[in-house]
Amino acid sequence: MKILSVFGTRPEAIKMAPVIATLRETPGVTSRVCVTGQHRGMLDSVLATFAIRPDDDLALMRPDQTLSDVFAGVMTGLDGILAEWRPDYVLVQGDTATSTAAGMAAFFRRIAVGHVEAGLRTGNLASPWPEEANRRVTAVLAERHYAPTQRARAALLMEGIAADRILVTGNTGIDALLRTAEAVAVPGATRSRLEAAFGWLEAGARTILVTGHRRESFGSGFESICEALARIAGRPGVQVVYPVHPNPNVRGPVHARLGGIPGIRLIEPLDYPEFVYLMTRASLILTDSGGVQEEAPVLRKPVLVMRDTSERAEAVEAGVARLVGTDPATIVSAVHRLLDDSATYAAMASGASPFGDGHASDRIVADLVAHAGAPMPVRLRPLIPREFADPARAARGAQRIA
Ligand code: UD1
Ligand code: UDP
Repeated sequence: MKILSVFGTRPEAIKMAPVIATLRETPGVTSRVCVTGQHRGMLDSVLATFAIRPDDDLALMRPDQTLSDVFAGVMTGLDGILAEWRPDYVLVQGDTATSTAAGMAAFFRRIAVGHVEAGLRTGNLASPWPEEANRRVTAVLAERHYAPTQRARAALLMEGIAADRILVTGNTGIDALLRTAEAVAVPGATRSRLEAAFGWLEAGARTILVTGHRRESFGSGFESICEALARIAGRPGVQVVYPVHPNPNVRGPVHARLGGIPGIRLIEPLDYPEFVYLMTRASLILTDSGGVQEEAPVLRKPVLVMRDTSERAEAVEAGVARLVGTDPATIVSAVHRLLDDSATYAAMASGASPFGDGHASDRIVADLVAHAGAPMPVRLRPLIPREFADPARAARGAQRIA
């Protein structure tokens, strides 16, 4: 049984690492790993952390590359590997250009696709852009759908995916987090190294950890976020720590606006164990990242999401995340409230973990083993799923997901 895992960005690598580890240990499975190199430095860092040595590297990253460059490069680069190796399944993760293009390339070769982290939806194609479209396209192509939550399963059902092709698994990102958080917490060489590396954190100050990279916030959105961070840093007893994403559309404005402001530390993207450690040291987290929204609640850290929509509504509903958009006044007042009001803080630091129990990878691999080898069924889905044929019902559904 041959499984080809394809990924290319930092979050895909983190979320695929536990799956690859499980595939490696599963008797009867030959696991091959192809990285597209959509990201370079951030991807290589994760590969080193999890000791993954890819079999293939398409080395696609170019500075400020366009989405079409990535898409075309993945499809062309992968096609030869698919033709030559003929895996039983291609596994893709999430909603990046890499994952959708890889799914498409496999589909064109009539090779079955397993979609890890299927069914996340905001119901809004503009946010997150272009990810909402990417994941919908992958859902149309995939044979097996690994939904992290019941909500994600419901979204897939509503789009006409047959129930027997969906498995609710939890998010593999939580598998990676729990293993790493444990390694980081245990006294020993790793912890001592991390404590030394972050010796510059002011002991008496409360750390606000920030990440941000969403394309729909480029321009005015990022200016607003920077304005909010500058105001927050003016509060005594607070230090803002921001590992800045290397995308030039993020790095340029962030350094121009926030560089040199006292109380704000702009740093390079962190290796994953370093980032997990820093999350454990933070009082709260401000982010637009998908993965960080899932991780922060597990570590009992309130997370304020600098977006207008989230496909991780489970965290908002559980009260452990709050959507604050990019308006500076809203962000600043939400931060102050958390820092000033211990009851609000405690409610958001409840430890609810809606996204998984740390065993998603086992479920996914067991399911693949059960299904691999089965020929790709020639089964046309209805062009318009029944639910969407009724506009009133479709509208109710979209509201439920949003
Ligand atoms: C991509 C994904 C997004 C995911 C994000 C995670 C798409 C459409 N977007 O967005 O879903 O949330 O990754 O971070 O697939 N760069 C470097 N070094 C790196 C990585 C990136 O220099 O290690 C720079 C390059 O100039 C690159 C640019 O960042 O061209 C943008 O990278 P790209 O992968 O196209 O998009 P992201 O915005 O990172
Ligand atoms: N992360 C990291 N170093 C950093 C910032 C984030 O290792 O400096 C990790 C984080 O723990 C999470 C993932 O990267 O697992 C999130 O990646 P990103 O925000 O780039 O993408 P998204 O999840 O939004 O697709």
